[in-house]
Amino acid sequence: MSGQTYFITGGNKGIGFELVTQLSKASDKNVIITTTRSPERAKKLYELATKFTNIHVIDLDVGDAKSIDTIEAQLDKIGVKGIDVFISNAGIFASLDPILKTDADVFLRHYTVNTLGSILVFQKVYKYLLAKETRKVIFISSVAGSFSNTLPLDTTAYGQSKVALNYSAVQLSKELVSENFIVIPLHPGAVYTESAQVSLAPLVAARPELFANIKDLMLTPEESVKGVISVIDGLEPKDSGIFYDYKGEALPF
Ligand SMILES: NC(=O)c1ccc[n+]([C@@H]2O[C@H](COP(=O)([O-])OP(=O)(O)OC[C@H]3O[C@@H](n4cnc5c(N)ncnc54)[C@H](OP(=O)(O)O)[C@@H]3O)[C@@H](O)[C@H]2O)c1
Repeated sequence: MSGQTYFITGGNKGIGFELVTQLSKASDKNVIITTTRSPERAKKLYELATKFTNIHVIDLDVGDAKSIDTIEAQLDKIGVKGIDVFISNAGIFASLDPILKTDADVFLRHYTVNTLGSILVFQKVYKYLLAKETRKVIFISSVAGSFSNTLPLDTTAYGQSKVALNYSAVQLSKELVSENFIVIPLHPGAVYTESAQVSLAPLVAARPELFANIKDLMLTPEESVKGVISVIDGLEPKDSGIFYDYKGEALPF
């Protein structure tokens, strides 16, 4: 297969960094455009980009409409003519509080970054996806955004934002069916990344046994991303609108 052009948000750490790593190594014909909120947060990513020149890093805060407005100019500067695969990965998981203890700004921050950020960035990259025929759109979601999830945690603000993201992915899959887009929400598994460590930190002291059980079950970013890429590679039009996990198993909404 000839190279593909990927646009991946939040490539400086965690699952995003691993996606950039594996995809840039997979073929020097792949082009990976990825984003960071600031160069200081992205030293490892810039180091990788000096080794793999198929990586291009742009600035983007998905929670800031003005920053999202700069995407087109930044892509044009790199000379991007088209994008095959958009992976909306940037996200936050910043609260384990139940509804009664969650402040308005916490709900809004999760919605702004995880849901609205993903949608607004997609609006900007849509025309670049149209320029190619692959037209794969992956919204990195979570089982926390499934009504049938059995997580032993309060994922209130985060879960709501991922439910809304899942809704948006399904809606888009319908809107764009005539243009042959494949749009899916994808759960990457429970992965031991920085955000997972920070969000699970309150459990270390409060519920150490639960923390130990959860940690035992978690994947490394390498394991998760190997599965995620294999799912993306195998996507066909009939998959559009289905909620998949990193093993390619369909999940309930
Ligand atoms: N880890 C898991 O177990 C798990 C499970 C299910 C779903 N997910 C989803 O997987 C995705 C990646 O999570 P992760 O575990 O890899 O988390 P992570 O290690 O914390 O990485 C998150 C990435 O998103 C970026 N980001 C956060 N807020 C942003 C903003 N306003 N604008 C631009 N970039 C922003 C971060 O950049 P900064 O360094 O600047 O913060 C970072 O690059 C998220 O959508 C998450 O919800 C993760």
